Amino acid sequence: MSDQAPAVTPDWSAQAADLRSQLQRHGHLYYVLDAPSIPDAQYDRLFRQLQALEEAHPELRTPDSPTQRVGGQAVDAFASVLHRVPMLSIQTETDISEHGARSFDARVRKQLHCQAADPPLDYVTELKFDGLAISLLYADHVLVQAATRGDGAVGEDVTHNVRTICQIPLRLPPQAPTKLEVRGEIYMRRDDFEALNERQRKKIASGAKNEKTFVNPRNAAAGAVRQLDPQMAAQRPLSFFAYALHFHPPQDLTLPPLEATLFGLQAYAGHAEVLRHLKDWGFPVSQHVKVVSGPDGLVAFHQEIARLRDQLPFDIDGVVYKVNSIERQALLGMVSREPRWAVAHKFPAQEEITTVMAIDVQVGRTGKLTPVAKLAPVFVGGVTVTNATLHNEDEVRRKDVRVGDTVVVRRAGDVIPEVVSVLLEKRLHESDCFHMPTHCPVCNSLAVREVGEADYRCTGGLFCRAQQKQAILHFAHRRAVDIEDLGEKIVDQLVDAGLVNTLPDLYRLGFSQWAALERMAEKSANNLLASVEKSKQTTLPKFLFGLGIRHVGEATAKALAKHFGGMDAIMDASIEQLLQVADVGPVVAQSLRTFFDQAHNREVVEQLRFCGLTWSEDAPQGRLDLPLAGHTYVITGTLPTLSRDQAQEMLEQAGAKVAGSVSKKTTAVVAGEAAGSKLEKALSLGIPVLDEAALLQLLQPPA
Ligand code: IVH
Repeated sequence: MSDQAPAVTPDWSAQAADLRSQLQRHGHLYYVLDAPSIPDAQYDRLFRQLQALEEAHPELRTPDSPTQRVGGQAVDAFASVLHRVPMLSIQTETDISEHGARSFDARVRKQLHCQAADPPLDYVTELKFDGLAISLLYADHVLVQAATRGDGAVGEDVTHNVRTICQIPLRLPPQAPTKLEVRGEIYMRRDDFEALNERQRKKIASGAKNEKTFVNPRNAAAGAVRQLDPQMAAQRPLSFFAYALHFHPPQDLTLPPLEATLFGLQAYAGHAEVLRHLKDWGFPVSQHVKVVSGPDGLVAFHQEIARLRDQLPFDIDGVVYKVNSIERQALLGMVSREPRWAVAHKFPAQEEITTVMAIDVQVGRTGKLTPVAKLAPVFVGGVTVTNATLHNEDEVRRKDVRVGDTVVVRRAGDVIPEVVSVLLEKRLHESDCFHMPTHCPVCNSLAVREVGEADYRCTGGLFCRAQQKQAILHFAHRRAVDIEDLGEKIVDQLVDAGLVNTLPDLYRLGFSQWAALERMAEKSANNLLASVEKSKQTTLPKFLFGLGIRHVGEATAKALAKHFGGMDAIMDASIEQLLQVADVGPVVAQSLRTFFDQAHNREVVEQLRFCGLTWSEDAPQGRLDLPLAGHTYVITGTLPTLSRDQAQEMLEQAGAKVAGSVSKKTTAVVAGEAAGSKLEKALSLGIPVLDEAALLQLLQPPA
């Protein structure tokens, strides 16, 4: 038997290695590049195969195996880690205007003794991620240690937790140096954060003790990394971006901090090249990294990212500028643990802490009651905020916002400010939880919340002063009958003084009544009177839209006017007839019927007609005689003299349809200045493009 060839036993070790490398590659495609090349089920199958193999042959289990991400035991405390290369901080540019970027460039040039005539310097611009810094140590290509920053010299060993982050490679490819340290930011995406808090809320609701929701993604991420039990850390969805590479100087070589951080990097032309390598070695590197030239490049990046900030899937608190050349980084040196070659240029904070002075309930046009937190004034997102919406009853309950609470307020972009969360530990006194009022705070009518709706509504309708005011403002709006200069302050006075309760009252006011209003000069009173007079000449869609019927927006009003041709036909239409109109579904149809079934609403229409409001009533549908009937136009950009509304109205008067997007069916596109994608699309489809002059010519009645 001995001279026989050995029985062919499968090479389990090679198979395990093959499975590991396949899983590693697909994991990178999935977690880092977000571009999987195999279905999830296939990945799971490979994963289970490797698990089974390791189960049967435990000696094949390696620390870099994808099955070993959540392997570690819980610990009592974290071990300390001495950073061989210190983790430096970054200077913060205090001037948040664009001047901040320019003064950084000026400082750098001065220190490098650049002359005015010398060419602009190259910088790498990056995002300043709002997470926590981490150091990852690789030896023989394998992740061996992950540590927090700590005080920059000594951090905490959080290897077990960091291993659970799928975006962090456990093994590096052969082209990477065998021993290296990568630094970057661990963070939590906003959607992951919301989902985590949602899960936490469910746990709390079902009675779980010792569970809490998190204030923001950064706190949630920091908490996860510092969990003692890796099983718990693994349940928190964390992400990672790499932004620096370091090599350890030999043990016997003691280098000053900056020299230590730059040790071995002279082999790379610049920081941008370092980042390219990190990406090649499988680390996630932000796609927003850019190489820019001089101060103008820095400013342009700052502006670009400020615009983009709210669309990013994660929080940033600014941008970072870094001198690209490693050689210059070395020349620049450092001051008090901050290198002179980098600076963080912050954005205004989007979240701040303040206190809730009161919770008011506001009444909207359709009677919707909205709870609003009245806040101690706080500067957030670039403005001073004193009100923040609490949306509705469920939201207030969910966040448990109470008067006197310390809260986190968020204002991002132009979105209305909102209360994000309550700092419960700051709640000193027993306070009452919030209840929606049972009656409208303005007119005292019953407030009801219908089944399946989130909002309470005042049932007072147009008897409710808040709704009267909103109804009048809506009717007077430019896109409705357009009463110029009739603003909120004037409407408040008119309604509060009892001069106007219903829409027709507006048309019954004489000069002396207008002139008697606060701060109303004779000229303004005359102007208003003239505007009211002018608004009497309107169109059916504008009039109908102006009535403020729930669910009847401009487009629906137009469709109704076109279909029925006249006001009476609309008021009398049955549900079935209303449903014939393109654009009108059961909800809209019902809303119209409910509105016109109320005698006082029909009375308003009658009275308005009596007061002299007129519009042309078209024959239903049949305006095929009009010159542009059957043609569709798209308007884009800013026209030299006409507003877009005016151009649209003129086209529609001539029988054309005006659409919002370009398609093969578009007759022509009317383009003004700064026309963008719609114009491009028209050109690519070969659709004629008209300027304002050509449009006016088109609309000229035939001689
Ligand atoms: S570089 C010497 N780049 O900001 C410069 N830091 O102290 C070393 N941070 O908490 C840091 N985004 O985690 C660098 N693109 C970025 C960064 C960044 C965020 C954090 C870092 C640390 C602080 C700097």
